[in-house]
Amino acid sequence: MSVAVKFSIPYGKQTISQDDIDAVSEVISAPLLTTGPKAKAFEEAISAYCGAKYTLAVSNGTAALHLASLALLKQGDEVLTTPNSFLATSNALLYVGAKPRFVDIMIDGNIDLDLCEKELVKNPNIKAIYGVAFSGNMLNQQKLKALKEKYAVIILEDNAHAIGATQAGVKAGSCENSDCSIFSFHPVKNMTTGEGGAITTNSQALYEKLLTLRNHGMVKTPEMASWEYEMRDLGFNYRITDFQSALGINQLKKLDGFLEKRRAIARRYHESFKGTKIRPLYPYHDGSAYHLFVVRVPYHDKRELYEKLLAKGVGVQLHYMPINKQPYYQSLGYGDEKTPVMDGYFEEALSLPLYPLLSEGEQDYVIEVILDIVNDYDTI
Ligand SMILES: Cc1ncc(COP(=O)(O)O)c(C=O)c1O
Repeated sequence: MSVAVKFSIPYGKQTISQDDIDAVSEVISAPLLTTGPKAKAFEEAISAYCGAKYTLAVSNGTAALHLASLALLKQGDEVLTTPNSFLATSNALLYVGAKPRFVDIMIDGNIDLDLCEKELVKNPNIKAIYGVAFSGNMLNQQKLKALKEKYAVIILEDNAHAIGATQAGVKAGSCENSDCSIFSFHPVKNMTTGEGGAITTNSQALYEKLLTLRNHGMVKTPEMASWEYEMRDLGFNYRITDFQSALGINQLKKLDGFLEKRRAIARRYHESFKGTKIRPLYPYHDGSAYHLFVVRVPYHDKRELYEKLLAKGVGVQLHYMPINKQPYYQSLGYGDEKTPVMDGYFEEALSLPLYPLLSEGEQDYVIEVILDIVNDYDTI
């Protein structure tokens, strides 16, 4: 049986309404367009939402990772990280001359913190762990706490997928068990500022360092003349604009509503795939921010599966190709790490459409199409 093409559905998209447009319009005619009062208010709103003491809003999530790495690491530092992320997570390590060490994942797609502990025991020089709350499912907080206490290792949580998530009573971005956390506000993420990102931390010293690095390493003190500034570090221009921040403030107000819709869609996928060959990556839980809904689909030809779905207008993606096997990383000597769970995951994983505006009719169509393709294959 072949389902007729009914829709063209992306795997993710932003939710922008008139109140967002109004919020941006108001600021775009203000005298200050770049980082000003709205950026400050956005940072305060993120801190309050996540329960972190300090937030620095920046131009994108990659900039957040870069600045955090500049502040936390030095050349040659070895850092445990995951192959199952967007390139930006480990690229940030390369930017600062640190050495990524790729560790296998668990079946839920997150870095295996038990394997990290084994690495920490073997190699006391390991300086940090960069983990990703993959798909919106936070890193195990008890384990992070234990690793931090036992090994005094620096922990960065890449929460690009996870704003609004909770785990064991800990909110993403609160940094209860980490040194800092980063977010991305790219349009496919759970809330957007067009491009944008943020770093949260509870450390005043780290925050002050990041603040300077965001703006070319420039420092201005009250004692200085009006024209005076000192460059004390080699920083960057990773500032966010006030109109992006105005959008961010408005989106953050609606975030919990967006997440409710994402969770409802995730629950419907779970219900619909019960008893079929399609296996959601982990059991449904309210703590996940469900940025992605990843399923494992046994199929003889991955490329054909994607092409069949795309031909039916069902936007799917693979999150992610193993970073350590990318040609650039291979040119640096990576690629031969033992990552059997990641390898198996890569063969079968598929991200299905998930965003607040996805209607039930569209979701039913996605489910019908994918089951039809998999069942057809079963009968070949
Ligand atoms: C896990 C992860 N980290 C970092 C980033 C980088 O964020 P940005 O695209 O805002 O630079 C992304 C974006 O796709 C991501 O998914």
